[in-house]
Amino acid sequence: MIALGSDHGGFELKKEIIRYLEKNGYEYKDFGCYTEDATDYPVYAKLVGRAVASGECEKGILTCGTGIGIAIAANRISGIRAAVCTDCFTAQATREHNDANVLALGGRVVGVGLALKITETFLTTEFSEGERHIRRIRQIEDRQGGEA
Ligand code: RB5
Repeated sequence: MIALGSDHGGFELKKEIIRYLEKNGYEYKDFGCYTEDATDYPVYAKLVGRAVASGECEKGILTCGTGIGIAIAANRISGIRAAVCTDCFTAQATREHNDANVLALGGRVVGVGLALKITETFLTTEFSEGERHIRRIRQIEDRQGGEA
């Protein structure tokens, strides 16, 4: 199950992503927003972040104008690793190296074609499971500061 969320700046792009997910047989849950009226991106970042952190959803995709604000808000939730991606290389790398569990996209930054390729890359790339990557993710999760 893929958790989806957007503000007004990412609303149109989220609709395209929904079309992509439906066409490709992915199940999804849309946590809003549901209209193009101006709204606050942290609301949807937190709904999606909680759904992913709790295990209700496997991954999340968030969209706002830039992808940045909604990623910052999602990253406040423990266990969430949200990555803003504007190309397929970073989408692949953030899955392989960071085990990113939320993709953030900017509806005012990337065109629909590229955004859907980034989405495909993010959803189909596995975490590399390398020892060094696991160690670094543990360091991210360590709220006490740890070894890092
Ligand atoms: C909304 O105008 C815009 O600030 C928001 O979509 C996003 O880009 C914030 O990071």
